[in-house]
Amino acid sequence: MTDLTINGKDVTLDVPGDTPLLWALRDDLRLTGTKFGCGIAQCGACTVMVDGMPMRSCVTPVEALEGSEIVTIEALEGPEADAVRKAWVDIDVPQCGYCQSGQIIAAAALLTEIPNPTDEDIDFAMAGNACRCATYVRIRKAIHNAAKMLET
Ligand code: FES
Ligand code: FES
Repeated sequence: MTDLTINGKDVTLDVPGDTPLLWALRDDLRLTGTKFGCGIAQCGACTVMVDGMPMRSCVTPVEALEGSEIVTIEALEGPEADAVRKAWVDIDVPQCGYCQSGQIIAAAALLTEIPNPTDEDIDFAMAGNACRCATYVRIRKAIHNAAKMLET
């Protein structure tokens, strides 16, 4: 049993401790906005916020998360998340969309840490989030646009 908070609700996960968080989110809690891509921490599709930091849920066992606060794409909120979502829609960032929940979480985390990131900051922060549709140019532009929205 693992007690933690997921999207603001107290949850007790009745799964083996070595179960990856991603499995618990998708299979037990039906929070399917978080995606399985590689399963080996290489693509970022499974990114969720853990205690305010982006983390790969495919390689994070639930037993390591006792007492943690998890936020998934379904409940990501705040000014940075709102600006990122708006910027994403404004310039139609997604193509197939599969990687995008992870991209949005990583982008919101970046803007929380660096409100006005350079191209290099963006490339560095987003390097772990792969996009098979190669939407990288639009992602970078959308992050700059979201940063501008947050300035006003
Ligand atoms: S599914 Fe977790 S990093 Fe790819
Ligand atoms: S939009 Fe298709 S994988 Fe990124």
